Amino acid sequence: MNPELNFVGGDPGAVKYGNFINYYKFHSPESRIRSLPKNVWKVNENRSLVCLDVGCNSGELTGEVYQFLSNCMKERTNSADFSCHFLAVDLDPVLTSRARESNLHGDNITYECVDAVGDDARDKAFADYLGRMGRDRFDVAFCFSVTMWVHLNHGDEGLQLFLEGLARWADTLVIEPQPWKCYRAAVRRLGRHGACFPHYESIARRDTLTTIGTLLTEHCHFAEVFRSDPSLWGRTIIIYQKLNC
Ligand SMILES: C[S@@+](CC[C@H](N)C(=O)[O-])C[C@H]1O[C@@H](n2cnc3c(N)ncnc32)[C@H](O)[C@@H]1O
Repeated sequence: MNPELNFVGGDPGAVKYGNFINYYKFHSPESRIRSLPKNVWKVNENRSLVCLDVGCNSGELTGEVYQFLSNCMKERTNSADFSCHFLAVDLDPVLTSRARESNLHGDNITYECVDAVGDDARDKAFADYLGRMGRDRFDVAFCFSVTMWVHLNHGDEGLQLFLEGLARWADTLVIEPQPWKCYRAAVRRLGRHGACFPHYESIARRDTLTTIGTLLTEHCHFAEVFRSDPSLWGRTIIIYQKLNC
């Protein structure tokens, strides 16, 4: 087990990658599911959706999003045979193995331990999964409450590469970015134990929602198609779709 993934100083709140062992005790999936729209998902000729969930933690939200999308598409297409498949990845193997053990959806959700910050292993994991599904891109990539951890650990450039990577692999991106105040809270939690994030001080792009939006719309040719109201946690879900797809 990579010691970098351990929480710091015996404090389960002091994690470097957002890999909280008890995340769903304090951030339940329900409010996020309630915020998702029903009408933006594109029905394709395969009568199936192939999705990616990045940073799935122990899988509770993944299972709920899977259920939401399956119901939504069955309603919209008036057809019980519409299928959804998810590849859900997280960099913490303890979390992906817990997700596998509690998976209620069989082969429709595959959990894998993958670091989603671009390298060959990530691209191979995505391509292998898509190959098994007979596809070369994901219809939708979900990225709930992950961008801050990528930003803190890989800096402005790392966040940009991460988003460009998602934009290469998926036609629709669902992103729930953390606002800057969450960064300060994460830094404080680690700081209590004398630890820090390598890139915090050098981050120039602190208006995170704008940064992510500008990158996807101006550099990656996506358009914003939906924005939720902020949740009680001050988080907004934003959906982008690739132009001309
Ligand atoms: C705060 S949790 C969010 C979990 C879930 N997406 C949700 O919103 O309910 C962030 C998750 O992202 C994962 N994570 C952080 N950086 C990652 C990376 N580079 N690749 C894959 N997973 C990552 C963490 O291990 C953690 O489980």
